[in-house]
Amino acid sequence: MNIFNIIEISHNYVSKVLRIGEIAIDATAGHGNDTIFLAKLLGKEGHVYAFDIQKSAIDSTNEKLIKSELKCNVSLIKDSHENIGNYVNNNIGCAMFNLGYLPQSDQNIVTCGQTTIIAIQECINLLRIEGIISICVYTSHPGGRAEALIVEDYLEKIDKKNFKVLKYFCLNDKTSPYLVFIYRIK
Ligand SMILES: C[S@@+](CC[C@H](N)C(=O)[O-])C[C@H]1O[C@@H](n2cnc3c(N)ncnc32)[C@H](O)[C@@H]1O
Repeated sequence: MNIFNIIEISHNYVSKVLRIGEIAIDATAGHGNDTIFLAKLLGKEGHVYAFDIQKSAIDSTNEKLIKSELKCNVSLIKDSHENIGNYVNNNIGCAMFNLGYLPQSDQNIVTCGQTTIIAIQECINLLRIEGIISICVYTSHPGGRAEALIVEDYLEKIDKKNFKVLKYFCLNDKTSPYLVFIYRIK
């Protein structure tokens, strides 16, 4: 495992927590890499709800799902992740967030702090005991630092009796992307 690659680390940890046949959320589908990862892990009995506000992201993810023959266990939803509660009401084993903009696309369309924390709260409401939420945070694009501050302020206030919130962060390069896990202990 590459210890500098936060996506690889998030996948590695999620794969240890997620159970075959359960439900997971990809809150930022983008080019579908996390959606595919989750769909493979959950198997035919499981289901992934993948959200994105951009048609190009939904199309890109859809194409990958068709090629990988995983389309039947994924619902692709073109809506903001703050509305997750309108689509998912079962318990989930995991939710993944990969914040920022869609690579090779319009860099003005980015996730934003106020809606990101609503979406995280929606996922917390659905998270089963010992389930996990992973959040990849980027700060070097315009608006990235402001979003990170809003998200961290919210994360610091999460009830510590029921959840552990962990941060994987490069102390000697504060501009590099970092990873947060929210783990439900009870
Ligand atoms: C860094 S990309 C995600 C990459 C993706 N996980 C992958 O594996 O390719 C961030 C995505 O978040 C999407 N996004 C921005 N705001 C959103 C919102 N409010 N709800 C859902 N998706 C949003 C963007 O359109 C973009 O596709």
